[in-house]
Amino acid sequence: MDQLIKEAEMFVKERFKEEVTGHDWFHMERVRRQAYLIWEKERVGDPLYVDLVALLHDVDDSKIASAVHALTLEEWLEKMDIQKELMAKLLTDTSNISFRAGNRSLLSPEALIVQDADRLDALGAIGIARAFAYGAHSGQMICKHGDFREQNRSTGSTIEHFYDKLLLLKDLMNTKTGREMAEEKHQFMLSFLCQFKKEWKE
Ligand code: ADP
Ligand code: NI
Repeated sequence: MDQLIKEAEMFVKERFKEEVTGHDWFHMERVRRQAYLIWEKERVGDPLYVDLVALLHDVDDSKIASAVHALTLEEWLEKMDIQKELMAKLLTDTSNISFRAGNRSLLSPEALIVQDADRLDALGAIGIARAFAYGAHSGQMICKHGDFREQNRSTGSTIEHFYDKLLLLKDLMNTKTGREMAEEKHQFMLSFLCQFKKEWKE
């Protein structure tokens, strides 16, 4: 597994080095680190496999433009000399981690940890920065006039995305450790939204 991790590091670093929607190499590094911290507390599964899933979790993400003409994860894994079972497990785990497309019941214990780490990176100060980077890239406005959920409008702005998804993530964590780590970041987003609304109305 050590050699595969080294190969994956090189592959993913090269692929995501200039990614601008918040799915850059630093995101992969943070997900690895956070996943390891969660694993240290939870002690379920194999930490090397946690690391591998963290590294590879966004390779097939269709939202990321650079992925369109690049190798799929399956094509890359085929070039590696690994067992078929490991390959199938990696493909199932990485394709089900996503918030929108994933089926949580198919995830291994290690992938449940990585899913929490990935969600933690969508929260807090970094989560806010990533949301606006992604929003701009996909042609979405920062906010539309009066675009706050208490008015129950769905406008497709990035501020709206906080109410659609980001504020829900804390209660969707798989692990107790992930839930605890999400709390401070969640509170920070609430204060950001509060200040944002105040300035918007001034
Ligand atoms: P997942 O990988 O769990 O499916 P996404 O890829 O949807 O999650 O989200 C990854 C990052 O992109 C997060 O930081 C998220 O906030 C951001 N993002 C996704 N959709 C939007 C959106 N409509 N507006 C702003 N940010 C978004
Ligand atoms: Ni991710």
